Amino acid sequence: MLNFELLTSPAVQEFIQNAFKRKMDALQVSTALNKAGYSNEERAAIMDYMALVPKFREKFYGEAGKKCDAFLLCDRLALEQSTAQDIGRYKANLWPTEGSVNDLCCGMGGDSFFLPSALKVIGVDLDENRLAMYRYNSNVMRGAVSETILGDVRTIDNRADYFTIDPARRAVEGENQRDLRNLTPTFEEVLEISKHYKGGMAKLPPGYPTDEIPQDAELVYLGSHSDCRELLVLFGSLAHNPGKVRAIMVDKSGNVVKAADGSDAIWNGTLSEIQAASNKDAEHDLPGCERSFRNATSESDLPVGKVAEYLAEPTALLIRSHLFGAVAIAAAPDAHLISEGIAYVTCSAPLPSPAFANFKILDKCEIATSAVRDMLKRHNVGKLTMKLRGVKLDPDEEIKRLKPKGKQSAILFYTRFMGEKIAILAERL
Ligand SMILES: C[S@@+](CC[C@H](N)C(=O)[O-])C[C@H]1O[C@@H](n2cnc3c(N)ncnc32)[C@H](O)[C@@H]1O
Repeated sequence: MLNFELLTSPAVQEFIQNAFKRKMDALQVSTALNKAGYSNEERAAIMDYMALVPKFREKFYGEAGKKCDAFLLCDRLALEQSTAQDIGRYKANLWPTEGSVNDLCCGMGGDSFFLPSALKVIGVDLDENRLAMYRYNSNVMRGAVSETILGDVRTIDNRADYFTIDPARRAVEGENQRDLRNLTPTFEEVLEISKHYKGGMAKLPPGYPTDEIPQDAELVYLGSHSDCRELLVLFGSLAHNPGKVRAIMVDKSGNVVKAADGSDAIWNGTLSEIQAASNKDAEHDLPGCERSFRNATSESDLPVGKVAEYLAEPTALLIRSHLFGAVAIAAAPDAHLISEGIAYVTCSAPLPSPAFANFKILDKCEIATSAVRDMLKRHNVGKLTMKLRGVKLDPDEEIKRLKPKGKQSAILFYTRFMGEKIAILAERL
């Protein structure tokens, strides 16, 4: 149980600000707290909380967080589970400007902070601790004390217009943690909840299987350049394009990223297309197949063919949304895979960025230490970055074993060609 009174007291907040300003280390902080008369428990609580302060400032204020002196109330788990400001700011665009919204499974409040200010927001959670965080934080972030309801979201009936829900990932010891369907409430229950509102949205893990998602919902895969952070399911009046899928790349402020040609980094598809692709994906999910292999795979409708001049790596958003094949073909009709189920595309020209990171292929050989060493020598490569898909080994150990000595730097892919292991040397464009 967090000591709310202690952590939100002006004396403690002032102490923390001061300690940051003076760049005090842990020993100095502990000594100063002791001197100020705090008990052992209070000291531990303050120091645990202090470790979270820069993290929540960065998570909810972005770059500005480095200079801001705001305090939010949370513990490590509530912070980890919360929705960050870039995603929160983008999602704010998806709401109507008036009405009331239940933030179901509100936690510390990440999904409420950036909602349009004219919306009346009500936080619902079955954990009193989280609701206390929510009340404190929404006052800081929205400038208003929000209503909260302590209860089970499956039985709440306060007649709000809209809902947003962020089910908890159930972590039961001994159970398969990779089972993404293991949510509480379950997606089936979310579907039931959605029937009681004009519209709403559910945040799911990005890899959540899409087969249970009804055709009248709309899907949005949201993320940044480097990752896909959530799969958002829009329901009712919030689903302006039922049966459609979008993958949307946002920057650190939650604005849609612009491609070099000025177009928005938004890619479109249909729910039925990606449902078919993710079913095929499941076929690759064979028992005994390494996790790293599975993570790096994604089915697409691209044909399989020879290694061409360029290799393109789809951005995480396009892999997760299963849209990379369609995006690649639309840009280059000769785009194809080199091995079924492995998300590398090869082509006679680079593919558009930021949908793809492009690499010019320099050489290729079988994965055998002497063959790879010879290839590195031929290209005078001494500095290597390794990328693995479909091959499992420790990249640092492998680089040590290869002992590259040349003057050039390059990317070494260990992947598969028509199912067989292959090493591809390339330079990043
Ligand atoms: C992933 S966290 C929510 C994080 C939040 N959206 C944020 O951005 O800060 C999930 C929350 O759901 C709550 N929860 C889980 N099952 C619930 C239920 N049946 N009814 C109400 N709350 C529930 C948990 O207590 C937890 O606070």
